[in-house]
Amino acid sequence: MTHPASEPNPPAGTATDATNTPEPILATAGVSKTFPGVKALQCVDFRLFPGEIHTLMGQNGAGKSTLINVLTGVVAPDAGTIRLAGEIVAFASPQEAEAAGVRTLYQEVNLCPNLSVAENIFAGRQPRRFGAIDWPDIKRRAQAALARLDVALDVTRSLDAYPIAVQQMVAIARALSVDARVLILDEPTSSLDDSEVAQLFKILRHLKQSGIAILFVTHFIEQTYAISDRITVMRNGEREGEYLARDLPADQLVSKMVGHERMSARLRDAAREGHADREGPPCAQAAQPFVELRGVGRRGTLQPIDLDVQPRQILGLAGLLGSGRTETARLLFGADRADSGTILVEGRPVKLRSPRDAVRHGIGYCAEDRKKEGIVAELSIRENIVLALQARRGWWRKISRQRARDLADLWIERLGIKAADADQPIGLLSGGNQQKALLARWLATDPKLLILDEPTRGIDVAAKFDIMDRLLALCANGLSILFISSEINEVLRVSHRVAVLRDRRKIAEVAGQASNEDNIYRLIAGSGE
Ligand SMILES: Nc1ncnc2c1ncn2[C@@H]1O[C@H](COP(=O)(O)OP(=O)(O)OP(=O)(O)O)[C@@H](O)[C@H]1O
Ligand SMILES: [Mg+2]
Repeated sequence: MTHPASEPNPPAGTATDATNTPEPILATAGVSKTFPGVKALQCVDFRLFPGEIHTLMGQNGAGKSTLINVLTGVVAPDAGTIRLAGEIVAFASPQEAEAAGVRTLYQEVNLCPNLSVAENIFAGRQPRRFGAIDWPDIKRRAQAALARLDVALDVTRSLDAYPIAVQQMVAIARALSVDARVLILDEPTSSLDDSEVAQLFKILRHLKQSGIAILFVTHFIEQTYAISDRITVMRNGEREGEYLARDLPADQLVSKMVGHERMSARLRDAAREGHADREGPPCAQAAQPFVELRGVGRRGTLQPIDLDVQPRQILGLAGLLGSGRTETARLLFGADRADSGTILVEGRPVKLRSPRDAVRHGIGYCAEDRKKEGIVAELSIRENIVLALQARRGWWRKISRQRARDLADLWIERLGIKAADADQPIGLLSGGNQQKALLARWLATDPKLLILDEPTRGIDVAAKFDIMDRLLALCANGLSILFISSEINEVLRVSHRVAVLRDRRKIAEVAGQASNEDNIYRLIAGSGE
């Protein structure tokens, strides 16, 4: 370790007591955890104070979620102690931690998609009256819990009727629905849009005021500074240091995350600005588009849309959640059937009745919801990576073990997937590394058009830059990409042109000078041309 652990600071943003030595509400001393082939945590000292918002930062696989799992009884540490309000604790399960007032929203949302919203909020602790479940009461309380988040939903509808961002708000409502001393949120904002993030932050600040200690994980630098009093940086399973947010400039934060030796000038500049540079790739001349949508729509889902993706180009899709981004992707991939218009591939009309048809035409789709449509948790990393390629070849033409191993190794190395062993179940990878494996799956099919729906969700800043550069390089070699992201600056960075969607229709297409953040926000808001 290159950097000495910093000295204790008084908690930021809280009134310190008379002795000026406040006690952490939750702390670890010398906590270690080894999984087969990985030292996930190495002798970690960590402390969380009442009334502070404390952000855990680090690259994918740095040990953030593992630390949370150790704190909340999901995994037992191999060594070290945990104290809650000064008392040594060893939670045997997350339920025990909850009972002690430690509420957690884990990185992979664990809700039941086919239960109602209300049941999800109160699952396992339904209010009862005379021994029977009191449904009217549950409904009322669920609505109240959501109202605190300014979310109004029909709580009797099943959860999967709502988009992921809304499901995420439901998960947050669940975590907030009982009294907590400590609230832990592992990447709660990765599928929220700007206004939802602002809403969540308002609530977190309010909770902090009431003395609750909040531990937060995010990969968004801007969010970190918007909300944090204190930052703990993790690197390779070690605690690199603990800082007051106001004492740690963003470029230093990033350099501590990646290690000084890996800090490129470009990454430093981007970190300082808090976002990627915005020039975007140069505009190439129009050629025969690889794919064209002519009046393609689906009743109730997407107004007829015209769109074309040029060879060697990235077309960005910008718009708010629910604007029709994912719906466009699904029609183009044959996951939903269009009921109007024509799709042309290389100038020839095609029928995309199923993803199979799309894959046969060289189209790949890296879906937004990695859990539902993405990874197969019990298959190995290698099997997950070759899955789409195998499906395209047909299951009767099995890819040889050797070829599968070579392909998986190639992409693990190219995308920097942090895995002890490609034969491990993919479910054991950290969240960001699962996302990279999903991307690898589609890149391994050598597609002509790749549809990427929120491809950088949960991926750390440094890896994000690598991945975007890699996408641009693949484009130079002939790939076309449809790039969907809520991060407008990311869309602008990689896209040659940007189509803007609003209310399930395309309202504009911008390139060159016009593709700047202000203009796109104006278009999305309905006030610009
Ligand atoms: N149950 C497990 N079995 C084996 N390895 C595991 C398990 N859980 C985590 N790991 C490994 O421990 C390391 C730390 O993972 P962790 O999930 O804590 O990372 P993280 O910092 O949360 O990353 P991310 O930003 O991608 O979510 C990773 O290499 C991961 O693959
Ligand atoms: Mg994690």
